Amino acid sequence: MDKGTFYITTPIYYPSDKLHIGHTYCTVATDAMARYKRMRGYDVMFLTGTDEHGMKIEERAKAAGITPKQFVDEIICGKNGILDLWKLMNISYDRFIRTTDDYHVKSIQKIFKTLYDKGDIYKSVYKGRYCTPCESFWTDSQLNDGNCPDCGRTVKYAEEEAYFFRQSKYADKIMQLISSYLEPTSRVNEMVNNFLKPGLEDICVSRTTFKWGIPVDFDPDHVVYVWVDALSNYITALGYGNEKYNDFDKYWPCDVHFIGKEIVRLHSILWPAMLMALDLPLPKKVYGHGWLLFDGDKMSKSKGNVKDPIVLAERYGVDALRFFLLREFTFGSDGNFSNEALISRINTDLANDLGNLVSRTVAMIEKYFDGTLPAEMQDDPEDGGLIEMAQNLHGVFETQMEKYAFQSALSEIFKVTSRANKYIDETAPWILAKDDSNKPRLAAVLYNLIETIRICTVLLQPFMPDTCTKIFDQIGADNTLQNYDSATTYGIMPKTVTVSKGEIIFPRLDLAKELEALETVS
Ligand code: ME8
Ligand code: MG
Repeated sequence: MDKGTFYITTPIYYPSDKLHIGHTYCTVATDAMARYKRMRGYDVMFLTGTDEHGMKIEERAKAAGITPKQFVDEIICGKNGILDLWKLMNISYDRFIRTTDDYHVKSIQKIFKTLYDKGDIYKSVYKGRYCTPCESFWTDSQLNDGNCPDCGRTVKYAEEEAYFFRQSKYADKIMQLISSYLEPTSRVNEMVNNFLKPGLEDICVSRTTFKWGIPVDFDPDHVVYVWVDALSNYITALGYGNEKYNDFDKYWPCDVHFIGKEIVRLHSILWPAMLMALDLPLPKKVYGHGWLLFDGDKMSKSKGNVKDPIVLAERYGVDALRFFLLREFTFGSDGNFSNEALISRINTDLANDLGNLVSRTVAMIEKYFDGTLPAEMQDDPEDGGLIEMAQNLHGVFETQMEKYAFQSALSEIFKVTSRANKYIDETAPWILAKDDSNKPRLAAVLYNLIETIRICTVLLQPFMPDTCTKIFDQIGADNTLQNYDSATTYGIMPKTVTVSKGEIIFPRLDLAKELEALETVS
């Protein structure tokens, strides 16, 4: 089963506010991919963390009357903070990096010095615009109606002595390579047309107007530009430039960086240029996913449209929320979040389709066979359609997952659960049950249902780990019937399987009532 390594990352989040459902989206997607790859037998490294420096955090801390470190500690480690949120959401990260960690700070200073000694970082004077929320420098020609082209907010004029990174030197190579590592393709075009074709300029990589950053150790009036600090997390967390960890050679280059679309430029241009300057291989993939929007607008605290994942997870269950995020939206595009979409999705897919299929099947096996199917079964050509779909599911699912098409992968599973529900209607087990001579046929029907449920559940594990455990318990599938490869073979469930009825896994929700309740709690 040794498949090699798989290194996957989320962005490291700014601990400037509580995280919302948009951040949760990216982290849940990364978690589902990490769990999927582990299930396939890869040695996975899943990295996430926090990006703690910069003017924005310094300003927020000052306003709160505490030090920046106290400020970020509370948001990361405090009650309902980032660590609590990832625990609640069942995020199976292998490593968590904080850019205030000692080892990271020292590594960044080394990286900066290495690039300076090499001549790829040099001192000059910066004159231009700065977007504080994005921590990004802009030239006049890059501004969008005078505002930040990434977030649309106002920018400040800045003039200061600063260090520059010779990004321009790597422009040609990036132009050549970008389509090999950046996905989806639409983002490649954006980068080529908006940034690469107009020509890459050198980029300012130090600041003197605030203190909350990693000092340039050979010129301590300067702190390292947060994006140089932040992007490097992907290698310092493996031990690059430090002794804390030792798995850089094992996991680098990264298999995929999952990131949101507004930070694609930094990940597909600046980051590769930095890596080239350090003579390191580029990430194999950078995947820029879309945003969750609210009535067409990006969620932000200032707009007051922030959705709290903790409220939703506590009300509907962590698995239902995880599932919704990856089932409802196309990963590469923007999608509109609404409470109505959430509740409808839970009702249709989870309560009606999957939940109903499991509870009907288990209930019928209990009712007609006291919970244990007999060995004697009678197959029928009418089973062929369902069996074929269940047999092929593993393959079509994997094809979609390998493309990071979570929505399509899930949709393949739910085609099969719908087919199974239809099979119940077609075979009408309650009619078969009226005549004892039909028992072998009835047993075959219920076996096909149980086996189909098992295969679907195996593949649902990366999305809804806890729910799948409950389903396996109900349908009597032991550990050997839960692993990824077991979903390739239809019919490996023992004929005389014993089921045990459990709680309803997804109760049906009253849409109107829930919408009203959500108005008051979130
Ligand atoms: O950008 N929908 O951190 P961040 C989807 N520290 N994704 C969303 C979203 C939404 N409504 N809102 C935010 C940073 N995100 C840097 C990253 S990496 C070296 C440094 C996503 O906390 C956003 O697109 O502002 C980004 O990928 C991630 O959350 C972190 O955002
Ligand atoms: Mg951001």
